[in-house]
Parts: sequence; structure tokens; C-alpha cells
Amino acid sequence: MIVCRSSAEIDKLRTVNQLVARILAELRRMVVPGATTMEIDATAEALVRDAGAEPAFKGYHGYPATVCASVNEQVVHGIPSDRRLVEGDVLSLDMGAKLNGFFGDCAVTIPVGRVAADAEALLTVTQEALSRGIDAVKPGARVSDIGAAVQQHVEAHGFSVVREFVGHGIGTSLHEEPQIANYGPGGRGPRLSEGMVLAIEPMVNAGGAGVKVLNDGWTAVTRDGRLSAHFEHTVVVTGEGCEILTRLQADPAQVPQAVAVSERRW
Ligand code: CO
Repeated sequence: MIVCRSSAEIDKLRTVNQLVARILAELRRMVVPGATTMEIDATAEALVRDAGAEPAFKGYHGYPATVCASVNEQVVHGIPSDRRLVEGDVLSLDMGAKLNGFFGDCAVTIPVGRVAADAEALLTVTQEALSRGIDAVKPGARVSDIGAAVQQHVEAHGFSVVREFVGHGIGTSLHEEPQIANYGPGGRGPRLSEGMVLAIEPMVNAGGAGVKVLNDGWTAVTRDGRLSAHFEHTVVVTGEGCEILTRLQADPAQVPQAVAVSERRW
């Protein structure tokens, strides 16, 4: 069953998703050569807790951190460590939080300093693929229309879509129905309707689609060792299309907890 949220519930989802987006924007400023992913994670956790929220990933099936920090050939679920970022790396930062019983989830892939043109292209195409997937979200559309739009865009640019991980419904749990694959034919699966809340998260590889999970039990890497990128937005289906709950709004008044975040100095 896919839950359709009331406007009061959507207000809470908007608040927590705006908080996640605002914290990711803060973390982006820490993504510089010499920084460690552990430092970024510690800041993320402090910002989440300062806002009165809780990290959504920490403790989830034993995951040990607030963010997933996936560098270069790491696809998703990279565990923050004392590894230092170097110029030319790409870093995927994925973060979830829970506030007032509702979850937010968002991811971005960030270049570290100047990166190679092919890395830049991978980030651009992955972000565009997420946009195409989001454009497919409207009442009456089918769940698989999202993945079809993502795959079409990715493959048109010669990149490949990861199959092993999917997007998901989100609300009072981090992962709810439906699962949202980033590939496959459109016109399948449940119809979308107003109030459904979806986390859409394409993972795109520069080379082959194959991935494997390292011995830490979490870190997914490309089989061929080439770069991977990941972007994620949480959206709610509206009457006409959808609203991107993790798109940072100019007016922070709606997110009082987040005002303190941007004023905090580190
Ligand atoms: Co997610």
C-alpha cells in the first residue's frame, strides 16, 4: 500500500526535507581538498541534532554514521572515514533525518575543487536524469515511468544505470512502498496520486552498470573501478505534478529550526 499524506503531514515532511537540504548546503562548503569525510559526518550529526532532529541512517540496519560519503568509484553507502579528499575527487553525500515523526532524504554529488571534464559530465547527466525522473511524476502516471525517463537520459549520454539500489516511498519510515527502480519500461506499476511522497535517487556509472559491496558490508563500488554519481530528491505528488520537498526554498521562515543552522559557525 502506498500512503497518501494529508496537507498537515506534508507540512511536516516539507519541514524535515528543507532541513536536510539546508544541512547538505552547509556540508557542501566543507567539501574541499584535505577535508576528511569523518569531519563532514561529525558536522552533519551536530547540525541535525541542533535542529532537534535525529539522523535517519545512523543505526539503520547497523549503519554507523549520519551521512553516506561515497568517493569516486564508490556508488552509495560509503562509510565516513579519515580518508582525505583530494582535488579531482567527486563526493556523493547522502543524508536522512527524522523530525516530528517524519523523514527527509536527499543526496548530492559534489566535485572536490576542479575535476576532469568526464567527471563533470557524469555529474551533470546524473542530475539531469533525476530531473527527468521528477518530470515524470504526476497524478495518473505509473511508478515505472520515473525509471524509464532516468534510464533513457543516462543511456543517451553513454553512461549506465545501477540496478541493485532503488528509490523509495518515504514518510513515517525512511523506506516505504513503492520501490522506484531507475531503469526499465514505463507504464508499469501502481499509479501515482496526490499526496504520495517519493525519494527518487538515480545512481549512474561512467562505465559498466555492475557494482559490488565491499567487505565492510556497506560500501557499494563499481566493478570496473570507474566513477559513479548519485543525486536524490524527495518529492510529493501534487494536483498538477509534484513539489520537490528537498529543493532549498529562499524563505527559511518555514523552517525555524534551520535558521540556527546557517548561523552556526564552525
Ligand atoms: Co533514499
